[in-house]
Amino acid sequence: MTTETNRPTVGPQDRASGGLQLRGITKRFGSLVANDSIDLDIRPGEIHCLLGENGAGKSTLMNVLYGLLQPDGGQILIDGTPVHFDNPEQAMAAGIGMVHQHFMLVEVFTVAENLVLGREIGTAGLLNMKAARSRVRELSTRYNFAVDPDAVVENLPVGVQQRVEILKALANDAKYLIFDEPTAVLTPQEIDELIAVMRSLRDEGRAIVFITHKLREVREIADKITVVRRGAVVGTAEPTASEAQLAELMVGRAVSLTVEKEPAAVQDAPRLVINGVSVAGASGALVVEDLDLDVAGGEIVCIAGVQGNGQSELVEAVLGLLPVSRGSITLDGRAISNLKPKQTIDAGVGYVPEDRQHDGFVGTFTVAENLVLNSFDEPPYARGIALDLARIRSNATDRVAEFDIRTESIDTPVSSLSGGNQQKVVLARELSRPLSLLIASQPTRGVDVGAIEFLHRRLVRERDNGTAVLIVSTELDEVAALADRIAVMYRGRIVGVVGPDTSREVLGLMMAGVGLDEARTLASTATAPAKDEAPADDAALEGNRP
Ligand SMILES: Nc1ncnc2c1ncn2[C@@H]1O[C@H](COP(=O)(O)OP(=O)(O)OP(=O)(O)O)[C@@H](O)[C@H]1O
Ligand SMILES: [Mg+2]
Repeated sequence: MTTETNRPTVGPQDRASGGLQLRGITKRFGSLVANDSIDLDIRPGEIHCLLGENGAGKSTLMNVLYGLLQPDGGQILIDGTPVHFDNPEQAMAAGIGMVHQHFMLVEVFTVAENLVLGREIGTAGLLNMKAARSRVRELSTRYNFAVDPDAVVENLPVGVQQRVEILKALANDAKYLIFDEPTAVLTPQEIDELIAVMRSLRDEGRAIVFITHKLREVREIADKITVVRRGAVVGTAEPTASEAQLAELMVGRAVSLTVEKEPAAVQDAPRLVINGVSVAGASGALVVEDLDLDVAGGEIVCIAGVQGNGQSELVEAVLGLLPVSRGSITLDGRAISNLKPKQTIDAGVGYVPEDRQHDGFVGTFTVAENLVLNSFDEPPYARGIALDLARIRSNATDRVAEFDIRTESIDTPVSSLSGGNQQKVVLARELSRPLSLLIASQPTRGVDVGAIEFLHRRLVRERDNGTAVLIVSTELDEVAALADRIAVMYRGRIVGVVGPDTSREVLGLMMAGVGLDEARTLASTATAPAKDEAPADDAALEGNRP
């Protein structure tokens, strides 16, 4: 026994050869080999990270393991015995639980009803509702989840919905837990909480498979790392590997984790002007209050903030998806408040929505169709009432190549693309028409490091073309990489506008509502920075464009 590592060195993982083994798993979709003879060992007491590019085959492999897909070849063994799952119920009965990349909850049902629905606790019925309720309470207390069994799922914030998914798996006392990109939709604080939960599940002797594109998280909690590329295992890595090494193993080439960009050539007159705008949320209360912000052509302004502070509503108001109750919004001098969304789009506004599953594409439409979703009825794709199908197809072929969208063909429905590739479709569409203003919420959520590198460069190119770029992101790394100015939003207002070099500490404090000056004082007394770190230039930037 040694004590040099921060992982448990003795424990359930030492139980000889126990656990779950995948041997030679192969899964094809038509001519596409999504999993090509994959071997994977999942052991109790370990967090096993599965890394790989968008479309590498991670979710497919996990769906095979969970009985959602049938493999074309290979075998699953539990404690050395071959098993076969026709459906998730059988996988659950064998002790496997899964938290999906796209939640599988029934939104109009309560938390307890969702548990019963999964048949984790007997068959449906009143008695079982009672059992489910008390199970939710018991597990909530044990893992510090604070989930109300009677809450209706659709009313819960994303982070809590995810806990419900975890509860579903735990209600069945799953020994093997699969987390498919659980952190993509969480705030930094929720991520910390989830990581703590995964650690305690591991320490109880459960086995965890963790899929994420955030290498920082991998390095924080992985006991084992397996990397897949284009359907095959390409290697394993130690948790001590650097982010750059992991990125290279995933993508097969060196990836630049920082964005190289020239200083912004900011145009004089702002293009987007938000003046004293208030917006009411779903409950009728103001969620954006008397907010001022402008974005000039040639600059990237990032709105940083903890999710739920009015960022989404502000963006939706600019797009005409929510009414502006007070104030005005202009684009290049023209009032755009309360236009219809289609009119806003036609006015040259590009939009990458936060919830792409709901708002970004039509899943049953093909890749080619989705790539012209806003403009198929306009030149060059339409003349009169006739669509130019050849134009639509050649556009799709070009965009698929440029954005490296991994799809079997341009005629594949977008719903069968991998999560990250669905997002690339939306970005490719929005970044491929002339824009005055681009608004992107969480633009690189769920995309792999190689794609982030490309998309960040593409966003900077959009800026350099003179577009006003407004990005909403909860990822401070992304904000630091892209922003020319950072507007920190808290409770419907802008707390301050600062330069891109502002420290994480100061940004973190501002995101909690602390004003800039006080945040600086607090950050400097807390961390006692070296003298030459005096934040002189961002003081000069406050409220101004550089
Ligand atoms: N139901 C399906 N029909 C056809 N092709 C599919 C289907 N599901 C997945 N694929 C294809 O299989 C490949 C692997 O997809 P998968 O979802 O497993 O990738 P992933 O590694 O999870 O990627 P991401 O990181 O983007 O989530 C992709 O090329 C995808 O388009
Ligand atoms: Mg996936």
